[in-house]
Amino acid sequence: MVILNTCHIREKAAEKTFSELGRLRRLKTEREAAGGQLIIAVAGCVAQAEGREILTRAPFVDLVVGPQAYHRLPELLARATRAGGGVLDTEFPIEPKFDQLPEAGAARGASAFLSVQEGCDKFCSFCVVPYTRGAEYSRPAGAILAEARRLVAAGAIELTLLGQNVNAYHGDGPDGAGWGLGRLIRAVADIDGLVRLRYTTSHPADMDEDLIAAHREVPQLMPFLHLPVQSGSDRVLEAMNRRHGTAAYVDLVRRLRDARPDLALSSDFIVGFPGESEEDFALTLALVETVGFAQAYSFKYSARPGTPAAGLADQVPEPVKMDRLARLQAAIGRTQHAFNQRSLGLRTTVLAERSGRQPGQLIGRSPYMQSVYFEAPADRLGSLVEVDVVGAYAISIAGRLVERAGRAKASSSKANSSKEGAIA
Ligand code: 5AD
Ligand code: SF4
Repeated sequence: MVILNTCHIREKAAEKTFSELGRLRRLKTEREAAGGQLIIAVAGCVAQAEGREILTRAPFVDLVVGPQAYHRLPELLARATRAGGGVLDTEFPIEPKFDQLPEAGAARGASAFLSVQEGCDKFCSFCVVPYTRGAEYSRPAGAILAEARRLVAAGAIELTLLGQNVNAYHGDGPDGAGWGLGRLIRAVADIDGLVRLRYTTSHPADMDEDLIAAHREVPQLMPFLHLPVQSGSDRVLEAMNRRHGTAAYVDLVRRLRDARPDLALSSDFIVGFPGESEEDFALTLALVETVGFAQAYSFKYSARPGTPAAGLADQVPEPVKMDRLARLQAAIGRTQHAFNQRSLGLRTTVLAERSGRQPGQLIGRSPYMQSVYFEAPADRLGSLVEVDVVGAYAISIAGRLVERAGRAKASSSKANSSKEGAIA
């Protein structure tokens, strides 16, 4: 069985589904010619958005299942097998799927994700998420805490709380009160053995005082925040229905940095939103400088079926979008490089997550989400190590492992002059 887990956020991502299905069709034909079988399922947001259309365009697909129906996969699979394909489930069932998904069992590594919230009520005019993922839903805090404890018991030392609009979290607390994300973060951070905590993705308008205070008060909460702004032009933000202007965003960043002075910020940007002028775009470039993002993702606007912006006049021509994207990425590259250079000479912790390309090399994340590579024995994988930052590049930094007393070989334990600490 092959499950394509698909993304509908931009046209390019959605198109991949059909090119990949063409490849799988050939594989299925070969298997069947050899007397075997191959079951093809399409899951994720393309499944949700296109539903039956997928079965029409690609009749060899056995099963189309939207994100809200994953807990019904075993039953759907049985049906697809019995019926010889053609099964569709894109309902938004009443029963919350989280209660019915199997519990996280075996260790999934030192860094784990935990869904706390789904869906979005913001209706940014370019975005399909409110349609594909539905209305905001927050899992009860008790269920989240139980899952967090299981993940930590299974070996996770870092957790990332996930939601399409995670800081809109408003779940029922075990005490009967409504909990916001700040309250939830404090409770998760209290779990013994949990060292690092992150959350993503947030909307600027949902950043409340308690959550900002958590950045000041909760040491496990890492000094990194992905806080998409999308554009630096108030006119464009208004047309995007973003519910915040640039002044409010910059002020929010100031309040966050008051709470956590070394907070690294990340964002998403869209260039070429309908009607975006060169002046609007210049304001986006200026905002990148003002905030000094530690990293950011940027995308060309992609008209999505059914969203209000797709019908707007004044669509920006493709070559203009490409030009703006290149200039924006260059600007982000500069602030990211500058941020990385400020870590030179500092001592930082890294969660060693995977092997690097060079033999003996490991790669992991700093507290600020920087990708750090360094030489270390493979048995450090999955653990937190200390490194001195010895190189700073466009999208990564290089570290030198600090040998721990007791672990250090006599020859390599030498005095170290690095400053331990936070990025200024
Ligand atoms: N076109 C381009 N980018 C988009 N995003 C969402 N919808 C679109 C679209 N129609 C981007 C936003 C969002 C990120 C997940 O994807 O920047 O924050
Ligand atoms: Fe989409 Fe994010 Fe806007 Fe929700 S807040 S509509 S997920 S861009």
